[in-house]
Amino acid sequence: MKKIVLGTLVLSVAAFAAVNLGACKGCHGANFEKKALGKSAIVANMTKAEVSAALVGYKAGTYGGPMKGVMKGQVARYSDAELKSTGLGK
Ligand code: HEC
Repeated sequence: MKKIVLGTLVLSVAAFAAVNLGACKGCHGANFEKKALGKSAIVANMTKAEVSAALVGYKAGTYGGPMKGVMKGQVARYSDAELKSTGLGK
């Protein structure tokens, strides 16, 4: 019983700490293979470092093109550490 409770706790903490990538796929594609809204770079082709810099930059308002406001809304709720550990990019 104790183990089950502990397991649930660990799982919910992990879910809370990770960026919800499911929310990105409507625009970026299931494998991040699309130009979101016809405008963004293809995230799957970016390096991990480029993706991290982009996400942190959108949050800080220091990165992006004409539609950066769309992305700011997506990333504002996450910490920089979370944005750097999405695992996106190659
Ligand atoms: C409503 C549609 C939409 C959603 C949802 C969305 N994005 Fe984006 N994303 C965009 C657009 C549009 C751009 C290009 C913005 C600009 O002008 O800089 C972009 C840009 C990006 C870039 C940088 C690509 C570049 O052009 O430099 C990354 C990385 C990224 N998004 C990741 C994500 C992640 C991760 C999520 C989910 C947490 C997400 N996006 C959710 C529309 C979206």
